[in-house]
Amino acid sequence: MRKTTILGTGSYLPSKVLTNQDISKILDTNDEWIVSRTGIRERRIVAEGETCSDLAYHASLKALEDAELTPNDLDMMIVATLTPEKRLPSTACLLQDKLQAKKAAVYDIGVACSGFVYGMSIADQYIQTGTLNHILVVGSEVMSKVLNWKDRSTCILFGDGAGAALLGPAKTPAKTGEKIILSTHLFSNGSLYRLLEMPAGGTAMEWTPDVFEQGYHLVKMDGKQVFREAIESMVDASKIALQKAHKTMEDVNLFIPHQANTRIIDAIAKRLKCPEEKIFVNVDKYGNTSGASIPIALDEAIKQGRLKKGDLLLIATFGAGFAWGSALIRW
Ligand code: COA
Repeated sequence: MRKTTILGTGSYLPSKVLTNQDISKILDTNDEWIVSRTGIRERRIVAEGETCSDLAYHASLKALEDAELTPNDLDMMIVATLTPEKRLPSTACLLQDKLQAKKAAVYDIGVACSGFVYGMSIADQYIQTGTLNHILVVGSEVMSKVLNWKDRSTCILFGDGAGAALLGPAKTPAKTGEKIILSTHLFSNGSLYRLLEMPAGGTAMEWTPDVFEQGYHLVKMDGKQVFREAIESMVDASKIALQKAHKTMEDVNLFIPHQANTRIIDAIAKRLKCPEEKIFVNVDKYGNTSGASIPIALDEAIKQGRLKKGDLLLIATFGAGFAWGSALIRW
């Protein structure tokens, strides 16, 4: 079977910055509380009229440029988002139109914050089996449109943005310097879905004025429980990835956890005995960008020179559903 390599990455963050100070002008909160409980200092917010597929488009162009490929080279595009541009059609279709990726099969996947790692795992299967060659996996979120800006315990946590990675087949045998996906591991537990959901907006709940008044179409979360589940799940997924590869945390050069909250990241690092210098963190600048969190972090880590040839990269993700996972990549 072939191996999958990362051919290029890109990310795009809207230019408008919303600081904790800005939020404290509309809500009873403050910078000190938000920073101490979450590590988040600011997040990005879309401009008027800027949409999920716009963010995805900018991130995708950069990933294509990085890979030195054109939209015509794409066999498939997978968009991970919990904030699709429309209920119909998929955001991936809108992205396909913007890119004019004429040959690409496209679809969205709905696994919330874990969508990018799920998408990467799906793409890996097509490439390993030789079914497809070039697959663009994109995480794009306009979280600001689905937050309840009256709920100070959730709206402070999230931000908008997009990240993309272009995957393709490695040379056989893989050449040194190729970034090889060694494994991906996916998990879920739907029985806890109520802890983090948008109750309305699908087909289960009537779209009544009361639903909108109560904010049932917006993100609703039991923060404390989610906090605990996120730590347990990402620790487990990381351990499984390492065990299956007969590696330990000492072999890992860089750890990119889902960027939800520095307290969650710190707790995971402690449990995995991962020193601070091996962890990539940018949640302070962007908040939790959900499905875009991992690809944005990956792109920034690469651009900052945090990954060298031969490094072992561990990724862990977690999100609503619950759905979580991990990936090991040899740089
Ligand atoms: N500013 C000021 N006070 C706030 C606040 C805010 N933005 N949000 C909540 N509070 C208050 C609460 O009302 C509560 O006040 P009370 O004691 O008078 O009732 C107090 O702070 C403590 O609230 P609590 O919910 O216990 O805080 P916490 O330490 O659990 O932190 C979260 C709340 C949301 C930051 C935390 O639970 C968390 O990060 N959870 C994980 C969320 C997450 O990452 N989700 C996405 C996963 S993909």
